[in-house]
Amino acid sequence: MRTLFVLLLLFASVEVRAAASEPKAEKTEQTKASFSGKLLVVPMDGSHWVGIKAIAQELGRRGHRVTVVIPEVSMRMGPGKHYDTRTHTVPYGQAHIDAIMSMHKDILKTNQPFMERMQTKYHHILQIIDFIHVTAESLLYNDTFISYLAQQEFDAVLTDPMVPTGALIARKLGLPTINLLRGIPCSLDIQSAGCPSPPSFVPRLFTGLTDKMNFKERVINTLVALIEPLFCRLLYWRFNNIAHQFLKEEVSVGEVLSDSDIWLLRIDFTLEFPRPLMPNMILVGGINCDLRKPLPKVRPIILNLQFYTGYMEVHWEGS
Ligand SMILES: *[C@@H]1O[C@H](CO)[C@@H](O)[C@H](O)[C@H]1NC(C)=O
Repeated sequence: MRTLFVLLLLFASVEVRAAASEPKAEKTEQTKASFSGKLLVVPMDGSHWVGIKAIAQELGRRGHRVTVVIPEVSMRMGPGKHYDTRTHTVPYGQAHIDAIMSMHKDILKTNQPFMERMQTKYHHILQIIDFIHVTAESLLYNDTFISYLAQQEFDAVLTDPMVPTGALIARKLGLPTINLLRGIPCSLDIQSAGCPSPPSFVPRLFTGLTDKMNFKERVINTLVALIEPLFCRLLYWRFNNIAHQFLKEEVSVGEVLSDSDIWLLRIDFTLEFPRPLMPNMILVGGINCDLRKPLPKVRPIILNLQFYTGYMEVHWEGS
C-alpha cells in the first residue's frame, strides 16, 4: 500500500505542472481518485515553501488527505487549498521573525563599511541557524505532537531535506520519504542517495567550474570535493545531536537521508551540467513556478540597452 502511494506521488509530482496549467485545474477530483493516501508534509520556511505547497495542493485536489505541519508563526507558511494544517507551538513570536526579516533588508540596503557589514551578516546567519534549530526542536521534542502524528497512520512523508526535521519524523514513524530540494550545499543529498559524482567532471558548488576542466581545475575541484564531508559535519552537527536525542539511536543525518525513497530535484537538465543521477531522482524543475499569476498589462516595453565592458543592462519599464 505504501509503495503504491509513493509511486502515485511520483506520478503526481511529475504531472503537477501539466495539471496546474490547465484551466480546469481547480475542480476537485475526489470522486475520481481510485486510491486515497494520507500524506504528511513537513515543509521548510522561506522560498522553499512555494514548491512544497504546489505539490500539497495538487495531491489534495486529487483526493488524497494531505496534512501540513507548520509552526504557529512563520515567514510564509500557512493554510491553502485542498490541504489541512496542524500547527505546533514555538518558543518565539511573530516579532522575532519580523526582526530577522527586517535585518535581512537592512543588510541589503546598508552603506556600512565592509567589515561592519560582514559582522552584521554573520550575526544574521547565526540568528537564522538558531531559528531553524529551535523550530525543529520544538516540533521533535514535543512528545504529544509526535504521538498525535503517529496515530494518524500516514502513508508517506513529503519534506525538504535541507532541514531534516521531516526525514527524522519519517524514520521515527517508519514511513517512506519523498524529498523535494534544489540541492544541499555540501552535496549531502548526492552522498545519501548513493549517487556517483566524479570530481573530474561534476563541478562543485562555489568553484565556478564547468563540466569541462583542465588538469589544474580538476585538482581544485577534487580538493573541494574532499573537504565537502567536513563542511557537511559543520552544517549538520547540531542536527546530528538532535537526531541522536530524538531517535535514541547513533545515527547521523546523512544515514537518515539515505533511507529516502524518492528525490524530487528542482532542477532542469537543460540548465545543468551533465552529471549522473540515480533512478529515484526525478527532475521537477519549475514546479515552484506553478503558483504563477498572469503578468500585469504593461505599456509598450522600453528597452534601454547599455553596453559596458562585456556587460549588458536591460531595463524593463512597465506601468
Ligand atoms: C505540544 O504540542 C501541543 C499541540 O500543538 C501543544 O498544545 C503543547 O503545548 C506542546 N507542548 C510543548 C511542551 O510545547
